[in-house]
Amino acid sequence: MNSETSALSGSGGVQARGLGRHDGARAAPVRNSDRWVVPAKIAVFVAAWYPLARIVLFGMTGNLGANPIEFITRSTGLWTLVFLCITLTVTPARKLTGINALLRFRRMLGLYAFFYATLHFTTYLWFDKWFDVAEIVKDIGKRPFITVGFAAFLLLLPLAATSPRVCARKLGRRWQTLHRAIYAIAMLAILHFWWMKAGKHDLLLPKLYGAIMLALLGWRLLAWARARMASRTRPTR
Ligand code: HEM
Repeated sequence: MNSETSALSGSGGVQARGLGRHDGARAAPVRNSDRWVVPAKIAVFVAAWYPLARIVLFGMTGNLGANPIEFITRSTGLWTLVFLCITLTVTPARKLTGINALLRFRRMLGLYAFFYATLHFTTYLWFDKWFDVAEIVKDIGKRPFITVGFAAFLLLLPLAATSPRVCARKLGRRWQTLHRAIYAIAMLAILHFWWMKAGKHDLLLPKLYGAIMLALLGWRLLAWARARMASRTRPTR
C-alpha cells in the first residue's frame, strides 16, 4: 500500500509519490478544471454538520424520543461509521473516476469521523456514566462491544493528532504506516456495531456496513497486490 492509504490525511499528495514527497507535503497547483473544488469543499463542510444540527433541533423541539441519551449515542455512533465509510471511499472513487482532486476532501471527512466519534464517546462518558471512571473501566472490561469501540476510538486519536500536513512532513514514511490504522479502526467499528446489535437480533445494518467495509478493504488489498506484482515484473535498468 502507498501513501493513499491514509485517511485522516492531508490533501492531494499522492501525485507526489516517487518525488520523495508524501501525502500533504505540498499543495498541488490549482488547475482551471479544479475550480469546483473550493465551493464543493465548503458544501461538504456545511453538510457534515447536518447530523449534529438534527440532534440539536430534535432536542429543542422535544423530539429525541423516550430515551434522548440512547438517541444521541446511537445517532453519533452511526454517523461516525458513515464518515469512516465515506473517507475510505475517497481513494477508490479517485482511481475509478480519475478525478485526483477528490483527495482534497479526505482529511476533512476523516476529521468529521473523529468529531462524531468524540461526540459519541462524550455522550457515553458524560450522560451515561457521569464521568464515573471506575464504572467506565468496569464496563470496558466487561462488555466486549464497549471494549472494541473504545479500542477504535483510542486508535483514532493519533490519526487525528497527526492529520495536519506539517505532521505528515515531519513523520515521513512512519506517518503513512500510522494512518493505515484506519482499516483496523473500521473493522473494530463494525465489530462494535455487530456485537451491540447481535444482542438485539437485528443484524441488517451491521451486515450492510460490514459488507461495505470489506469491499473497500478488499479493493485496497487488490490494488496493493497489483502494485507489488507490477514492481516485481518491471525490468530493472
Ligand atoms: C470509532 C469509534 C466508534 C464507532 C464507529 C461507533 C459506532 C457505533 C454504532 C454504529 C452504534 C450503533 C448505532 C445504532 O444503534 O444505530 C454504537 C452504539 C454505541 N456505542 Fe459506539 N462507536 C464507537 C466508539 C464507542 C466508544 C469509545 C464507546 C464507549 C466507550 C461506545 C459506546 C457505545 C454505546 C454505549 C452504544 C449504544 C448501545 C445501546 O444503545 O445499546 N462507542 N456505536
